[in-house]
Amino acid sequence: MFVVKAGGRALEQNLDGILKSLAERARKGLRLVFVHGGGDVVSRYERLMGMEPKFVVSPQGIRSRYTDEKELEVYVMVMAGKLNKEIVSRLQAMGVKAIGLTGADGGLLRAERKKRIVIVDERGRKRAIPGGYTGAIREVNTELIEGLLSQGYTLVISPIALGSGYELLNVDADQAASNIARALKAEKLLILTDVDGVILDGKVLEKIRTDEVEALQSKIGVGMNRKVMMCAKAVKEGVSAAIIASGIGEDPLSAIEKKSGTWIIP
Ligand SMILES: Nc1ncnc2c1ncn2[C@@H]1O[C@H](COP(=O)(O)OP(=O)(O)OP(=O)(O)O)[C@@H](O)[C@H]1O
Ligand SMILES: [Mg+2]
Repeated sequence: MFVVKAGGRALEQNLDGILKSLAERARKGLRLVFVHGGGDVVSRYERLMGMEPKFVVSPQGIRSRYTDEKELEVYVMVMAGKLNKEIVSRLQAMGVKAIGLTGADGGLLRAERKKRIVIVDERGRKRAIPGGYTGAIREVNTELIEGLLSQGYTLVISPIALGSGYELLNVDADQAASNIARALKAEKLLILTDVDGVILDGKVLEKIRTDEVEALQSKIGVGMNRKVMMCAKAVKEGVSAAIIASGIGEDPLSAIEKKSGTWIIP
């Protein structure tokens, strides 16, 4: 069983390539859970609706979308509606039994809403602000996922979770993929993005051991930083390898067989 995540930019540039690559393996019987991102698409629709997307940076240098009540509405419309259903319909056209779910469906992902978050403001000062509609994942309904997988479904999951008050929350897609991989004890976690892997001094790192992650953190920029952290967590909890690779070329899932991209290993 593999968990595959693709970010918004990779999906915008190569949706067909990514889905073909998934479909080819799903048709051969590989059990797949596909988590999609789509931050850039959400931002585009927010602008169309007259809103300006907001981002915040944590003291660890991790940049995230800031979701207030109005933005959550657009987030859910785009993620659970437009993107999820487009992916599901295309996979079906490729002969895959695909089912699309958000983390709210069947309580697939339960999260804790962040009451306050600490950010670094424009002047470099730390500040606590209300957390908005963002959550940290606490629980994965493995029974639901395993049930669907055993019926031959390929799952397409939007990064939305259910909070403790049953409110919808934006959750990070890298985190969702990592938590699902850990909960299901997936064999591999593959994170597809718009670069060839983790780049250090102009070169793609072939391997990162989990005990090397902390020292690397300050040398890796935002976006990639979070992926490395989430991959290391998955590998520490039993996933045999987590791979960060390009979602842009032909057959992106071949990174697993060809051993390309950056491999995070125990
Ligand atoms: N050391 C690094 N190696 C590779 N990429 C890096 C590094 N530091 C920063 N990055 C950036 O991280 C980006 C990938 O993370 P990002 O969050 O932007 O994409 P994504 O998660 O695939 O898509 P999205 O967040 O839009 O769904 C790369 O495009 C790259 O610009
Ligand atoms: Mg991202």
